[in-house]
Amino acid sequence: MWRRGRPEEQDAVDGAAEREADPVAAQPDDGPAGPATVLDALAVPALDPLFHIEPRVRRQLDAVYALSRRHPTKVLMVGPQGCGKTELARWLAATHRLPWLKVNCPAIQDPRDWFGWMTVREGQTVYQPTALAQAIAVGNCVIFFDELNRLHTSLWGPLYGLLDDTNQVWVDQLGRHLRLSAGTIIIAAMNEGSQNIGVFLQDAALMERFVRIEATFLPPEREAEMLVKRTGVGSAMARSLVEVATLARRQAQGDDASLPWQVSTRSLIRTAELVAAGLNPREALEMTVTLRLPTEGALASPRAEFLRIVQAKLG
Ligand SMILES: Nc1ncnc2c1ncn2[C@@H]1O[C@H](COP(=O)(O)OP(=O)(O)O)[C@@H](O)[C@H]1O
Ligand SMILES: [Mg+2]
Repeated sequence: MWRRGRPEEQDAVDGAAEREADPVAAQPDDGPAGPATVLDALAVPALDPLFHIEPRVRRQLDAVYALSRRHPTKVLMVGPQGCGKTELARWLAATHRLPWLKVNCPAIQDPRDWFGWMTVREGQTVYQPTALAQAIAVGNCVIFFDELNRLHTSLWGPLYGLLDDTNQVWVDQLGRHLRLSAGTIIIAAMNEGSQNIGVFLQDAALMERFVRIEATFLPPEREAEMLVKRTGVGSAMARSLVEVATLARRQAQGDDASLPWQVSTRSLIRTAELVAAGLNPREALEMTVTLRLPTEGALASPRAEFLRIVQAKLG
């Protein structure tokens, strides 16, 4: 559940909610909202020194930041699972010292999970805002909607206003609108080729409000370097693992794909860690990739196909 996000951020959210009587504080109508000192609700993420950003994406994110100084800016980030979408959004926040909030969309189960609910405290009925409501009110932050495509369509309603050009949503419990202010960047991530994209993401009028960034895996040399730095695995081993992944990714694309998904950067990191911990690469891959692949079809199965790639690259 996103309200139970990273512990340090959640503590801050809870603490802030207690200190402020009206946590969805007044906000300016135009111009970036002031520094996020109104509430300490949101943490500025630390810059990951091992995060590698490609020049193309960097230019795009720089432009997004510039745009966001003038008006709320919405980005749709599309790419395969585990290729670095979340980390790109964090990078943007860290680089510009913006507080950031990750909303884990599949964990939203009830419309009240968006903006809050009424609760009784010391005999009084009070509005309990979510961290999202607070982030919108504070402004000048990065709000990351993870796996937007996995959100049940019945829960889209409250988001429409926020994501279209009105930039505002009526919150019944509050008796007023919550408005996005300049300085706020919304990044919605979705996995490429995901089924279940729902009507919402096919709404052309709405999608026009988003600028789109394609997140891709790092180029092989960069990915291998990153594995070495992150896990301490040797560079020859890192290159071999990346070769396996690159070949397997190719087999997961197109109409005649023989593998059901692309080997993610996340899986590669885990594999390299297991190798650094003493397994041979075959054993490590078994724990991260191989056993997740279906065996139906025997020799033509995805698992058999992957094992052929492993055999070809690792011997
Ligand atoms: N460009 C990159 N540089 C360094 N590490 C990366 C990069 N891209 C992805 N990673 C690592 O890969 C893992 C998966 O990234 P993540 O952002 O969670 O993927 P996604 O959100 O697309 O599923 C994380 O551990 C992240 O640190
Ligand atoms: Mg993610």
